[in-house]
Amino acid sequence: MAEQVTGAGEVVGYRHDDEQVDPPLLSPGYVATETRAPKRPLIPIAHTLSEVTGPVYGHDRIGELDHDLTRQHAGEPLGERIILHGRVLDGDGRPVRDTLIELWQANSAGRYAHQVDDHPAPMDPNFTGAGRAVTDSEGRYRFVTIKPGAYPWRNHENAWRAAHIHISLFGTAFATRLVTQMYFPGDPLFYQDPIFNAVRGERDRERMISRFDLDETVPEWALAYNFDIVLRGREATPPDIH
Ligand SMILES: [Fe+2]
Repeated sequence: MAEQVTGAGEVVGYRHDDEQVDPPLLSPGYVATETRAPKRPLIPIAHTLSEVTGPVYGHDRIGELDHDLTRQHAGEPLGERIILHGRVLDGDGRPVRDTLIELWQANSAGRYAHQVDDHPAPMDPNFTGAGRAVTDSEGRYRFVTIKPGAYPWRNHENAWRAAHIHISLFGTAFATRLVTQMYFPGDPLFYQDPIFNAVRGERDRERMISRFDLDETVPEWALAYNFDIVLRGREATPPDIH
């Protein structure tokens, strides 16, 4: 808050997203955007005190096992256990500390624990697929989860989503809100996934792909993936267009 409000009480807005990084709201390959995208040009609105100062979430809202999606039920979920970790950074590369990060994902068979997902893949009674964490004083976060499976959708003929984890962050305020999807390196489905490819720049798309991390991999227990999230600026992690 201190950095966004001057001594004279003047509100300093956050920088806006780089429009070259963000996927266009109307991305014809992704059919649903034809009805979701705004029909009129967006109107920029200056940030006011409420956008630059709140909300702020504290540790007291986070449960002890919220970051571990493999220990939220009586048994362990099926699939490949993974550690997902990284840092949250602002547009100037500074760590964003004490910030809430939420994720949700399909199970290892590619099915969501959600009533509208009825494709013929098994549910896992030991996996809900939702987790939360708060970054530490250096902006670091860490989850334990299961690698999600690819899943079919009806966007186009024989369409499959590349394996992904949905991630939501508020950053320091509403104005730095980011909802994105994280992918896994070397996925063979990238080329036909219009949500992934709605992000136009190749380097920008690469910022949505996690990095396999042998250093943090725990022997005989779990592979690790590293994923740093940048909330704003030229190096920003692109948002998704859901
Ligand atoms: Fe998804």
